Parts: sequence; structure tokens; C-alpha cells
Amino acid sequence: MSEKALTDHVFYRSPRKSYPTAVRADGVFIYDRTGKEYIDGSGGAVVVSIGHGVKKIEQAMLQQAARIAFAHGSQFTTEAAVELAQKIVAISPPGLERVYFLSGGSEAVETAVKMARQYQVDRGVPSKYKVISRWTSYHGNTLGALALSGHTGRRKFYLPLMQHTPHIAPAYCYRCPFGRQPAYCALECADDLEKTILYEGPDSVSAFMAEPVVGATAGALVPRDGYFQKIREICDRYDVLLIVDEVMTGVGRTGKNFAVDHWGVAPDMLVGSKGLASGYTPIYCVVTTEQVHTSIKQGSGMFVHGHTYSQNPLSCSIASAVLDFIRDHNLVNRCAVMGAYLLQKLKTLTKHPIVGDVRGLGLMAGVEFVKDRATREPFDPGLKLNALIGARAFEKGLICYPGGGGADGVRGDHILLAPPFVITEEQIDRLVGILDEAIAEIAAEIKIS
Ligand SMILES: Cc1ncc(COP(=O)(O)O)c(C=O)c1O
Repeated sequence: MSEKALTDHVFYRSPRKSYPTAVRADGVFIYDRTGKEYIDGSGGAVVVSIGHGVKKIEQAMLQQAARIAFAHGSQFTTEAAVELAQKIVAISPPGLERVYFLSGGSEAVETAVKMARQYQVDRGVPSKYKVISRWTSYHGNTLGALALSGHTGRRKFYLPLMQHTPHIAPAYCYRCPFGRQPAYCALECADDLEKTILYEGPDSVSAFMAEPVVGATAGALVPRDGYFQKIREICDRYDVLLIVDEVMTGVGRTGKNFAVDHWGVAPDMLVGSKGLASGYTPIYCVVTTEQVHTSIKQGSGMFVHGHTYSQNPLSCSIASAVLDFIRDHNLVNRCAVMGAYLLQKLKTLTKHPIVGDVRGLGLMAGVEFVKDRATREPFDPGLKLNALIGARAFEKGLICYPGGGGADGVRGDHILLAPPFVITEEQIDRLVGILDEAIAEIAAEIKIS
């Protein structure tokens, strides 16, 4: 279609911004209408797992569309849904055996919260309803998911509309909320859950929700070994469900199928994952135990919840083909190997005085910026340092995911990197090279060297 034939009525996220038109994508690259090539260093917003433009997915899509694209989940099951659920259970932590499908991450987070609540009622403990989550976290933008999120900037406009829920301190070693050095750490951040459960009253707490590796709010915060094991013990002690939000970390990105696998922790519910369909269709899931499923089955007999596009066969068959692709190309292991290479390369960026920390797990990595490396003082948020660096990298052909507010809800700047699993060493070199240039230029322009 010619350019002049189009009048743009799209309500964009940033109405003041002018967006290039993406027209084509292949592997780790996106191309705009002018032919400019962008390396997709963050898979959009940590979405693209197997890469863009994979023919096998196109074929799976067409085959399923030719058979049946939609049947409502209240009226039918489909082979596509049953097959995908089987594949998800096969890669999930032990004990997770039932899969509920959704079309959005926020929708999936809220589904887990409601499923936990209904489970408590149906098993005869109706006093349990609270969900504890963490500061410096992101669980989605719908009002319920935003209430659980610990990101001050994203919450502030909508606070009057949100229900207050308890939040605990994050597992943020670079900025330990308890002022500890690693050598003296006793996982006080995990103990904070126990304290909060006790303050709130264990009889009132239904679940605890956390991202195994924090993504959007702080740039790949990886907890110490032992943190999630301790969290699991605390949840067990107080009969609280553990819900892990693997929307970003899921299906291989961290070098294991799910990030909690790094610590051998089996949650009661897992929310997954952008990478499940790699951007080819919107599909997410909540995976839970037979115990939760049976309690609802034997209690109310029905999960009083549902969304129209849940479980649609077209999305299910696309996700199924993506999981096959990940398995056939050994991409989970590739994430571990290429992730180690990415992290090693990113560490070279510490030559810039404004780079305070570089961290990550598998192909999910973060670079945090500081005004003063010795004190770890963040930049004035008014400077919007993360956006400046992100925009400069974009101009130079690198897509990354900048964010702010990690340090205290308002201050703190980071860039999140999460390229498609198929990225090569050469492409990682290019990614880091562009980021290096962008950081150097912006540091010079703000006169910090
Ligand atoms: C950990 C986590 N949970 C939930 C969500 C919400 O997903 P969606 O944007 O699909 O609603 C996100 C989105 O970035 C996320 O990172």
C-alpha cells in the first residue's frame, strides 16, 4: 500500500514519538521501510525466542488455520490445546501438571491469583486471599497485576484504582535492601517474606508471587543461590502457594527450561511465557499442580474465570511448533552457552565509569548505570539516562530494552538485553559494539567520563 494512502489512526504508547515502520524480520534482525537493519537485542520486550521469520512456524500456522482456527474453550477442547499442554508439562518443574491457557501475560498473572484464591476457598480455607509480591518487580499493566508489581513509575497514575497488596524487599544484591555485603548475606531478603506473612497473618495469605530473575524493573536481577529454596521453605511453613512469574524467563531463556530449575525449586504455579510463541501469536499459560486442579474440580466444580481467546487452537499449534523448534535445535543449552558469551562481552562495558553493574543468567542480561561508581548513586531520573542510551542504540541499529526506577522506585537506570536464542557470537559482538558506542557518546554528551 502506498504511504499517502494511509492515514495513521493508531493510538501509540508514546504519542509524541515518531516510530519507524517495521516491514520484515529474519532471525535476529528487523528491517524498517527504509531498509535499515536493526539487531533485535532484546527480542522486542523479551518476547522473541526462536528468532523472526521461521518458516516452520509459518507452515504450522497455515496448517492449523486451514483445519480450525477457533473453538471456544467453554464448548470444545482441541487436539492443538491438548498437545501443547502435554509439551508444557513435559518441560515444567516437577508436580506441575495442569495448564490453563491465556492470551496475555497480565491476564495470566491475574488468572494465577484468582486460581490461588479459588483453590483456598474450595479446599476450605476461605480466610486466605492476600498475595504478597516484591518491590522492584513487574507483573503486568492490568490493575490487578499492576497492584502486585513493584514499579513506582508504572503504578503512580493508577494508585487510586488499585487494591493495596503487601510487598517485600527484592533480592537485589548490587543494592542490598539490608545493606549487606555478599560475604555477610544471610538471605535477609527471603526472611522478609516470613516477617510479612507473620505481620499480615498466615491465615490471610494465599500466595507469594515473584519473578525468578527480575526483568523490566531492574535489568536481570539474579538472586543468590539459596534464595528461592528458602522462599519455598517459608511458603511451605505457612501454607502459602508459591507462584513464579516466568513471563520473561520461561522456555529456555536463562539456560534451563524455566529459571526456577536453576535452584531445583518446584512452585505451586508457574506463569509463562512470552517466549512460548516467540511473538508469532499471543499465548501464555498458568501451569499448576494436580492438587490445585482437583480441589477446584471437587469443590466448586468450575474455575469461575475465563477469557475468549484462551486455548484457541491456532495459537496453541503455533506455540507447539515453537517448542518443537526449541527442542530440535537444542536452544535451551544454546541460551546457556551464548548467554555466558554475552555476559563476558558485556562485562567489557565496565570500562565506562557510568556502568555500575553487569549481570545476567543465560540470554537475559542487564547493564546498570550509576553516577558514582563508588557510592552507587543513581542519576537524576529527570535526565532519563536509560532512554537516552536506548534511543542512541536504536539510531545505530540496536534494539534494547531500557528501564528506570530499579534503585528506589524512581531513581536507577538500566538496559535489559535478551536477544533471540539463535543469536551468534558475531552478532553478540555487534550488539555489544553498538551499545558500547551509545554509552560512550551519551556519557560524553552529559559530560561524565
Ligand atoms: C515478568 C512479567 N510478568 C508479566 C508481564 C505482563 O505481560 P503482558 O505485557 O503480556 O501483559 C510482563 C511483561 O513484560 C513481565 O515481564
